[in-house]
Amino acid sequence: MNTNLATHASTGGRAFDESQVPLYYSRKTADILHKYGPGPRVHFHMGLFDHTPPNTTVAQRVLKRRIVASQEAIVDHAARTWGIHGTAPGHLLDIGCGVGGGSLYWAQEHGAQVTGLTVAAEHVPVIQDFARQAGVADRVTPRLGDIHELDEQAKYDGAYANESSGYMDRARLFQVVARALKPGGWFGIQEHFICRPEWSAFIDAYYRTRLGTLTEYISAAEAAGFELEQDEDVTDRVAEFWVQSMAWNTAELDHVERTGAASAWSRERLQESTITHSKLFRIWRDHAMETRLLLFRLGGN
Ligand SMILES: C[S@@+](CC[C@H](N)C(=O)[O-])C[C@H]1O[C@@H](n2cnc3c(N)ncnc32)[C@H](O)[C@@H]1O
Repeated sequence: MNTNLATHASTGGRAFDESQVPLYYSRKTADILHKYGPGPRVHFHMGLFDHTPPNTTVAQRVLKRRIVASQEAIVDHAARTWGIHGTAPGHLLDIGCGVGGGSLYWAQEHGAQVTGLTVAAEHVPVIQDFARQAGVADRVTPRLGDIHELDEQAKYDGAYANESSGYMDRARLFQVVARALKPGGWFGIQEHFICRPEWSAFIDAYYRTRLGTLTEYISAAEAAGFELEQDEDVTDRVAEFWVQSMAWNTAELDHVERTGAASAWSRERLQESTITHSKLFRIWRDHAMETRLLLFRLGGN
């Protein structure tokens, strides 16, 4: 029997198989490093663009540079609007840290002591290596573990979850984080929220997520003792990410077909990803899904 199966309100009661998430990421790590690398700060989340979208008829390496810059920009934008920029967050828990782009950002730019949690075992040595390259090996500690099982108390000044909470049971997530934070601690989230449920199954199947609604998050947060301090809708500024990412995919496909060069991505993966991105762009442009930056604060201070 698979004990990782759980049903969840946001998936309309459909089963969510937690065991698929580490498998998905272990298959994807090489793809992520190829497309968003070489690092040391490698992110796997959407990025922020200006309201005038940049031309896509440019070299592939320009597209990549731009994609990575947009990912850095959204992390930096969140730190500024949340009022954390320039004030050292002390000890930070980076929940679902991926290959560590965010963890390294908080350690390098803000001097934070960061614990990065991931369910993908492959991520841990990659983050250790990147942290060494960036000179923050003493400040970034990647840890293999499931947030639902975290059992720490009043340890962290802040917690951060960039496009990872969509994999989690929100009631449990907020309870665990409330316990792990010091009184008055903050919890910053970048996430996508369902506005038109008819798209949820398509997105959840592609990314193995269980995305929820904003109302569901706020209820779960309040039940755990958090107050919502900031809620910024960045949907219109991140939608362009799909276009730039699609342009990178088609450039990679052209390169592979023209030169016969090997790519970390197979031709089928590139084709599937590009078709999916065209749907995702429409979903974001229509606000059928919204990306938001949320800042919660734990009561008690
Ligand atoms: C889309 S990636 C985001 C990575 C990173 N936050 C970033 O912005 O680059 C999602 C991450 O969530 C992690 N994750 C998913 N479920 C998790 C869980 N239950 N506990 C801890 N991490 C989890 C995955 O291992 C993966 O690293």
